[in-house]
Amino acid sequence: MRKPTKAVLTGAAVAALLVPCTVNAVANSGRGRPHQDTSATTLGALGKRAGLRIGTAVDTSALAEDASYRARAASEFTSVTPENVMKWDAVEGQRGRYDWSEADKLVDFARANGQLVRGHTLLWHNQLPGWLTTADLGADELRAVLRKHITDEARHFKGRIWQWDVVNEAFDDDGTLRDSIWLRKLGPGYIADAFRWAHEADPKAKLFINDYNIEGVNAKSTALLELVTRLREQHVPIDGVGIQGHLAVQYNAPHDIAANMKRFDDLGLETAITEADVRIPMPSDSTGQEAQAEGYDVLLRGCLLTRRCTDFTVWGFSDTYSWVPSTFEGEGAATSSTRTTGPSPPTGRSWTT
Ligand code: XIL
Repeated sequence: MRKPTKAVLTGAAVAALLVPCTVNAVANSGRGRPHQDTSATTLGALGKRAGLRIGTAVDTSALAEDASYRARAASEFTSVTPENVMKWDAVEGQRGRYDWSEADKLVDFARANGQLVRGHTLLWHNQLPGWLTTADLGADELRAVLRKHITDEARHFKGRIWQWDVVNEAFDDDGTLRDSIWLRKLGPGYIADAFRWAHEADPKAKLFINDYNIEGVNAKSTALLELVTRLREQHVPIDGVGIQGHLAVQYNAPHDIAANMKRFDDLGLETAITEADVRIPMPSDSTGQEAQAEGYDVLLRGCLLTRRCTDFTVWGFSDTYSWVPSTFEGEGAATSSTRTTGPSPPTGRSWTT
């Protein structure tokens, strides 16, 4: 435990996001410093006492169109991640023609609100522009294109990004490297190259590798551990490991997350929970919601127990803007703002007859 006061930040507090009275109830629960102000506690403030940034993914359309979303995004969080607008297809839809406008607006928003920005993401196999995926470029040209992309983007935002997700989702669940265009054409060295290029372009940004299903100790997290160990030995400029934290209540929560994160911490790497959400088969009921609170709690506790865990980011709020319903059929209610202050009535079950 880093400080006694951090106990006020609990999974329940996160789960109660956007329900300020509950956040205050947690803050006043007697487990932390007595907290008299019942009107103004935010997750960001609770996180600060625990030495943690609390972030959210930001949907920039919602930010432009929904005033209450904008107010919450500004007040509850101390860091932000662009949900989509820094991805390759968003910034270079046409080859050689950059459009940084949406991403710039978010960076400006963060600056105006005293928030740090997690850049997301420089290299991924998804959300690539069509001109790139259809071109069937040879290895040399593809490598040059990737180098230019990473260099131009990291340079554009130079000095304004706290942490970059340089490489996103490079592994399969069995611990082998993902069969992506990058691995197929460039070989496994593309990962070290990406970090070197990003560091050259923005030497002060903290550079992360980010993935899902690496919360607990398993084949994938162990393969990632071996990779980052090798990268450190080779003096590749990598600073941290991002653990996405996309959970689903029908699977066991990763109770060994702290033990897993310690393995990275012991290498001197920073860690972060970068995309927390906990989805529920719909319709959600109180059982699902309790399991969801446990999921958030496990993720948050993992971070709180890990010395160099810098931030806990939720993948958006509220359910209106969540990616889950359109991605996972029959599942939803995944954001922390689903929660209400009391238990919801059970649905679909009855014990009165
Ligand atoms: C998702 C966004 O939330 C969606 O809006 C988009 O359509 C697809 O991508 N892992 C990641 C994120 O690293 O970038 C993904 O974001 C969710 C999974």
